[in-house]
Amino acid sequence: MDKIKINGGRQLNGKIFISGAKNAALPLICASLLTDETVTLTNMPMLSDIKAMNALLEQLGTQIDVFDDFVDGHETKTYSYRTKEATSLVAPYDYVRKMRASYYVLGPLLARYGHVEVSLPGGCAIGARPMDIHLSALEQMGAKIEIKNGYIVADIQGRLQGANIIFHTASVGATCNIMMAATLAEGITKIENAAKEPEIGDLAELLIAMGAKISGIGTSNLVIEGVKKLHGAAHKVIADRIEAGSYAVAAAMTHGRIELINAQADTLASPIKILRDCGVKVEEKENSLVVDATQAHLVGQDVMTDYYPGFPTDLQAQFMALMMIAEGASMVTETIWENRFMHVPELLRMGANINVHGHASAIVRGVKKLSAAPVMATDLRASFALVLAGLVAEGETTVNRVYHLDRGYEHLEEKLKAVGADIRRVKEDDEE
Ligand code: EPZ
Repeated sequence: MDKIKINGGRQLNGKIFISGAKNAALPLICASLLTDETVTLTNMPMLSDIKAMNALLEQLGTQIDVFDDFVDGHETKTYSYRTKEATSLVAPYDYVRKMRASYYVLGPLLARYGHVEVSLPGGCAIGARPMDIHLSALEQMGAKIEIKNGYIVADIQGRLQGANIIFHTASVGATCNIMMAATLAEGITKIENAAKEPEIGDLAELLIAMGAKISGIGTSNLVIEGVKKLHGAAHKVIADRIEAGSYAVAAAMTHGRIELINAQADTLASPIKILRDCGVKVEEKENSLVVDATQAHLVGQDVMTDYYPGFPTDLQAQFMALMMIAEGASMVTETIWENRFMHVPELLRMGANINVHGHASAIVRGVKKLSAAPVMATDLRASFALVLAGLVAEGETTVNRVYHLDRGYEHLEEKLKAVGADIRRVKEDDEE
């Protein structure tokens, strides 16, 4: 299994191109199931999660074509998806267990075909990850849902029916799934307490281009007026705000200066505020973000995750890494996932001073230096926190289980190498 080796201590300077957002691309791919025409997605990131979603759609009967493309002079991929007629309405366990976002086929297939079977994903490293909100909303829209042999089996006679739905939690996944299902329902669906993450706005934009009628985008109250049929459309995937935030921390921790090309400042208001409070200069440009820590004396800040526009849970581990080397004490509080401090024991092995209290909070006391160690993480963002620690630690850090990083960070080593990091991938067997 591949490993990443990093020799710490290099200041990072230069430009990093921010890729299309994984968490936008995954539901966008599934939206293509709502029509028999072609949906074309540009600025797609090349990630193992995208490959996994493509494999699932191919298994359902989708014809997928891929083309090389350029966005702002950078190489990207364009994918076209056409599901003229689905040949299967089942998302098997083997696909769903590898990638939870497979549940995004639930809403579109049920709405278009009146039947779908999706394996229940089960929990994962960051929490229990229930699906009650998705299922209860579909039931309110008239679907009959059963759990059989580990599968969600959903049926509807005729079309789904519009309904007034109140989510008990502003779930990103449920908002996307129910919004997609409601586009083909009969009548009007209202979702109260919908999630407001930018990836949901991106999905709504594609659905509207396909002929859907959606209002309230970017608010907690979405209104979707169902239509009988959707058509094909083309759409450019938004920039990945989590990737941008992750590299912003790399600039801050190495006292470097990195311009994040394509990063959208308006989707990063909360992380940018914390960086500035830490002493880092952040300049917002029209199509980029310049993060300059060359003169910064880093001062620790409290970080509390929240639903958008609050601080994203997907940047919690990376900001904890920053607080590890900032002066003073910082409180890091996780409110979205019940088990998202799995990076802490590994960071402690590199010399961090962190005390976790219960499941939700950790006190991070800044240390003057970190030292390299072999480390591994249990999820994508935690793995990036270990890369960040490796960038500033004395000596050579080995990050194991690189497959987590490959799920969400396109060309990670190339991007970091280009700004001066001493980083390389080593292909060898996992020594665990
Ligand atoms: C999305 O997961 C992201 N994944 C996650 O990013 C991200 O951490 C999360 O949103 C929160 O921002 C994708 O977009 C593919 P949720 P999702 O449903 O949709 C509870 C990454 O690193 N909940 O918004 O699965 C749930 O337990 C990943 O890229 C219910 O109670 O998250 C959690 O506490 C990790 N019942 C909260 O809602 C439900 O039916 C938010 O979960 C659904 C969720």
